[in-house]
Amino acid sequence: MSETVNRGLEGITVAETRLSDIDGESGALTIGGFPVVELATNATYEESVFLLFEDRLPTAAELAGFRADLASRREIPEEVRAVLRRAAAEDRPAMDALRMGLAASTLGTAESASEEAARRVVAVVPTIVATYWRYRRGNEPVPPREDLGHAANYLYMLTGTEPDEAAVRGLETYLNTVVDHGVNASTFTARTVVSTQSDLISAATAAVGSLKGPLHGGAPGPVLDMLRTVHERGDPDAYVREKLDAGERLMGFGHRVYRVRDPRAAVLSSAADRLYQGRDDDFFEAVRAFETVAVDALAARGGDRRLDTNVEFYTAALLEGVGIPMELFTTTFAVSRVAGWMAHCLEQRADNRLIRPVSRYVGETDRTWTPVDER
Ligand code: COA
Repeated sequence: MSETVNRGLEGITVAETRLSDIDGESGALTIGGFPVVELATNATYEESVFLLFEDRLPTAAELAGFRADLASRREIPEEVRAVLRRAAAEDRPAMDALRMGLAASTLGTAESASEEAARRVVAVVPTIVATYWRYRRGNEPVPPREDLGHAANYLYMLTGTEPDEAAVRGLETYLNTVVDHGVNASTFTARTVVSTQSDLISAATAAVGSLKGPLHGGAPGPVLDMLRTVHERGDPDAYVREKLDAGERLMGFGHRVYRVRDPRAAVLSSAADRLYQGRDDDFFEAVRAFETVAVDALAARGGDRRLDTNVEFYTAALLEGVGIPMELFTTTFAVSRVAGWMAHCLEQRADNRLIRPVSRYVGETDRTWTPVDER
């Protein structure tokens, strides 16, 4: 048995995958064989999902069929709406509501192990998030519309009005950018669940729990808080100094794998730039200025690990520009990443080996039992 303990499984290769490839040293990300920028800026979300599930781009006819199929699976049963209504009434965070709604969303459907079940999971996540949000705002849910694409329909269900083209494109760029990213914590969680021959909805529900934490998907909300504060105060240097002197982390910086700027930050920053152009608002300028100050300050601190901008930094700016409420940033990440989770689950299933690492025991040995009244 190995004597080395790889804390956090850092640097351990646990699977072969055709879905995405990360080069952390040079800052390159390939999804389904495409550089992330190419997929993010050209694809519809449905094309990205098809690419992950089928390992190729769809023809026009296949895309139309796939899009219609996903759209036909968007409805959730009344019992799930009841759970979401209750979660909203109790002010539960959106990720908790998603976990509850997703777990119950197979009611009324025959659970199967197939790609159809994976499509259903991808299709219902936006409906669950939007339904929860409508209740949270004291409104009735807006039923999904089959004639709208995945991204447009999500925005439509949130607001009840048809979104403009720029917002849809901004959101779609985001959804494509974060759809898959190697064996990150939530994806590993999903693969671990199906490696026991468990089902896809269990895998997706567990992955939601993993994504929720601030070290994974929970960062963009705090990033936006930080950006708003800095924008209002107008002194990014002082803010960064205060945080770092207090031993706090700057949200939106640093990454387990990337040693340079996260390539997704570049894609999302360009998309945000396009979105904010022409708006009478200097928020995005403040965001860019803050990035420079923060990266310089983190570099000046030294340390063996270079800290640069990660995906969450520009996610916050872009989603804010698209009009996604901050409370839904992490659930919107899930709206995208659920396709990556499902594709990894299908891949794991196709060549399964139970995921079961080992630990090194460092506890007591040879204890002698003392009866309770003698302790
Ligand atoms: N701000 C300030 N310091 C940071 C930092 C940040 N955002 N991220 C890492 N560091 C420092 C750590 O304090 C640590 O310093 P030390 O060696 O003096 O203790 C060093 O860099 C290494 O950090 P470590 O926690 O080992 O890195 P990791 O690979 O486990 O963590 C993250 C990666 C993403 C969890 C981490 O960078 C982080 O917490 N970032 C902020 C949260 C965030 O943006 N999350 C979204 C990720 S996409």
